[in-house]
Amino acid sequence: MDELRLKLAIQKSGRLTDPSLDLLARCGLKISRGKDQLMAYGENMPLDVLFVRDDDIPDLVQEDVCDLGLVGLNVLEEKRLELAARGHPVRFQQVRKLDFGRCRLSLAVPQGTSFSGAESLRGRRIATTYPFLLENYLRERDIEAEIVTLSGAVEIAPRLGRADLICDLVSTGSTLQANHLREVETVLESHAVLIRTPLALAPLKDEWVERLLMRIDGVQQVRESKYIMLHAPRDALPQIRKLLPGSESPTIIPLEGFPDKVAVHAVCRENVFWETLESLKKAGASALLVLPVEKMLA
Ligand code: PRP
Ligand code: ZN
Repeated sequence: MDELRLKLAIQKSGRLTDPSLDLLARCGLKISRGKDQLMAYGENMPLDVLFVRDDDIPDLVQEDVCDLGLVGLNVLEEKRLELAARGHPVRFQQVRKLDFGRCRLSLAVPQGTSFSGAESLRGRRIATTYPFLLENYLRERDIEAEIVTLSGAVEIAPRLGRADLICDLVSTGSTLQANHLREVETVLESHAVLIRTPLALAPLKDEWVERLLMRIDGVQQVRESKYIMLHAPRDALPQIRKLLPGSESPTIIPLEGFPDKVAVHAVCRENVFWETLESLKKAGASALLVLPVEKMLA
């Protein structure tokens, strides 16, 4: 492998795969990937993408096989606790919180079972693939329960009589529903994150990490941002500025032939809803136009 190229690990197939590839594409990366190939070559950046099991991503960065990784906070926090329990140092840094892969690690009981807070866990058998996060949760609440560590198919453990309840990831909730389970407590809120090795990289690689981070920030800002244009009576400006969501300094342009009116252009760093447009109109705005933002570089 080329030592001067960055290696970024992403999930091979799963919830994070498509949004991870989408993020990289929006950052301008073009990759060529053959079917079932484990590595894709970045054609226009010195960056190659490795497709791996999500649970392996922290280790790959930890062991310097990869410089960067896109992974769920759930996997990362579990690994952090595992390393601490084994007395090993953590050798990855979380450098960005990403706006996808939202889910939660939750406790769920069979439907029809009563649950009245963490106390109901005492002496119970809880099946999970996240033993360290669960153990941490129980310890913080001073609760003794049996952790049944499984490598998958946690949701069927209660039916098989292997556990009384489960601690598993919930995204849409359809897995729980299909297995007649009821979510009762959240152990960890999760989302995707970008991690990197704490090691100093070669200058060229380091420069590309910085560029990638800047582009990721731009992509994430743009996803939330809108460009809004409207006409407003001059004397309604103070109120209209207050109504523009998340915009710092709008551009005010005189309107030829209308001395008491101006055009207002602003980047709104949050979504613009119909309700906002209706309020703006009520405040005197007209000719309202909302446009998506394509790229942004602060
Ligand atoms: C999780 C979890 C459930 C499912 C829940 O698996 O183990 O099976 O997702 O999602 P839902 O609420 O939308 O039904 P994940 O995709 O993380 O697979 P992995 O554990 O094999 O990485
Ligand atoms: Zn996994």
